[in-house]
Amino acid sequence: MRSIFIAGTDTGVGKTVVAGALAAALRLKGIRVGVMKPVSCGGPEDILFLKKCAGVNDPLEILNPVALKRPLSPNVAASLEGMRIDLNKIKKARDVLGKKYDALVIEGCGGLLVPIKGKFFVIDLIAMLGAETLVVSRAGLGAINHSLLSLEALKKRKIEPLGIIFNRLSGGPLSIPEKTNPGVVHRASGVRPLGVFPFVKTDCKTGCLARVFLKHIDLKKIL
Ligand SMILES: Nc1ncnc2c1ncn2[C@@H]1O[C@H](COP(=O)(O)OP(=O)(O)O)[C@@H](O)[C@H]1O
Ligand SMILES: [Mg+2]
Repeated sequence: MRSIFIAGTDTGVGKTVVAGALAAALRLKGIRVGVMKPVSCGGPEDILFLKKCAGVNDPLEILNPVALKRPLSPNVAASLEGMRIDLNKIKKARDVLGKKYDALVIEGCGGLLVPIKGKFFVIDLIAMLGAETLVVSRAGLGAINHSLLSLEALKKRKIEPLGIIFNRLSGGPLSIPEKTNPGVVHRASGVRPLGVFPFVKTDCKTGCLARVFLKHIDLKKIL
């Protein structure tokens, strides 16, 4: 069983889109793929999207064991909601899914150093869940700094990522940063870029996302 944790350099960089596209691509390849969003803040949209992409039917309490209502960092949202985040609940849900699927695509929440509870951060979920890491960064201006900071945090915890995907948040011709960032980040970090995920139209759903992923991202380097 492979667990792949989709770690973002920030919130809003495209973790959900890329995680959904990866799940859809694995499904298209005939792999039994499950999805998980261990902690959500602000609603079930991400896990519902991932569920659709993977074509799975597990109950939401398993797919998204910690569901916080407010779009805040989990520690703050939990404290405002009077909720104690139970890490064991996350582990148990992961074990249920781990028995059922050959691959699990797990989406983090926000960036790697977002606190979940106390001094336990999103990055600590990776080791707790025994997952491998795929980093998603925005493709354009600002990506170098955010990517390198995230990769340094992973390195400090001796986590070697499978690679980094640069996700486009706008269409049109590639800008200079979008063209040059993958090479710059690769040379500075040694972490291999797996491709630039293009900006897709809103009607690009599961099948389309799978095809886009397989066309632009080197799946062989992930599997
Ligand atoms: N490649 C893309 N093509 C089109 N829209 C995208 C793409 N990546 C992200 N978006 C849009 O940008 C917003 C943030 O992306 P999302 O995947 O939700 O980020 P995250 O999960 O990192 O917070 C969403 O509205 C999403 O639909
Ligand atoms: Mg998301």
